[in-house]
Amino acid sequence: MNLEHELAVLETEGRAAIAGATTEAELEAARIRLLARKEGRLSAIMRGLGQLPPEQRPAAGAASNRVKDILTELLDARAAELAAAQDSKTPRLDLTLPGRATWRGAKHPVTLVIDEICDVLAHLGFTRARGPEAETDWYNFIALNTPLDHPAADMHDTFYLAPGILLRSHTSPVQIRTMQEHQPPIRIVAPGMVYRRDPFDASHAPAFDQLEGLAVDEGVTFVDLKATLAEFARGLFGSSARVRFRPSYFPFTEPSAEVDVSCMLCGGSGCSACKGTGWIEIMGAGMVHPAVFEHVGYDSERYTGFAFGMGPGRIAMLRYGIHDIRILYDSDVRFLEQFAGVS
Ligand code: PHE
Repeated sequence: MNLEHELAVLETEGRAAIAGATTEAELEAARIRLLARKEGRLSAIMRGLGQLPPEQRPAAGAASNRVKDILTELLDARAAELAAAQDSKTPRLDLTLPGRATWRGAKHPVTLVIDEICDVLAHLGFTRARGPEAETDWYNFIALNTPLDHPAADMHDTFYLAPGILLRSHTSPVQIRTMQEHQPPIRIVAPGMVYRRDPFDASHAPAFDQLEGLAVDEGVTFVDLKATLAEFARGLFGSSARVRFRPSYFPFTEPSAEVDVSCMLCGGSGCSACKGTGWIEIMGAGMVHPAVFEHVGYDSERYTGFAFGMGPGRIAMLRYGIHDIRILYDSDVRFLEQFAGVS
């Protein structure tokens, strides 16, 4: 058998072996049989080159190399084919699948209203303040000119944590803490949770949000209170909103008022939200009682001020058409996620 013939046989058989390999292991076995350095058939043929007459060696060498190149190329191509077939059997990355829905947070509707109120009041120079939810009866009642035998301080109306310590029943104690820490002029807005022994029904919650306002300086009058709250109502409800003051009573303000805003739903003509009156009560307010100033060491002859307190939850209910306060404090995501994207 001459060398040329041997190479031709090797090429033919090699092609068949490579094409017939159906696994990577079979293909590797074929590669070893055909081309491996020691035991491969091509190496055996090439070792015979040395017995040829010198003038035939270059041509024979070139012929062997050509067969080697052909088989190497076929091996590579078949390896790629087998790998691709393997890939299509295993699950692959499908970039057309929709992404997994991620949790999208939202601001609570009451927080939205609080932020908006604070923004409006920030334009009038009010900065945010906060105080603890667990208070002493001194801050919650006594310093606010409310004696402990007042019904509001009764065991049955307030959550006492220990003797003399309770969950604040309003945000007004923040007035006291602020005045203890700062001298006038003062203008603060203090949102936060308050607690009362109320039933949890459509219009009451034992824990709810309040928002306190306080301004103290020399020469502050009731006119400043009215102008501030009128401006506040326009900022929150629109330029046609009006406010009205009705005489009222709070131990820590004198004079005191209930403040109504023209109904934002009917514009004042009367609807079910305002019970046909055209007005909706939104807060209590008044001029800071001199006795309160005495408790914090302010000179009540020199300083005057006004305070107001409102329920942002009630405003959120009006704004978003919510008829049951419980839904605000239930943490039901089906309700809360409707506010995703509102800011
Ligand atoms: N603290 C009062 C309440 O909870 C509201 C209020 C605040 C009234 C400030 C007057 C001044 O009802």
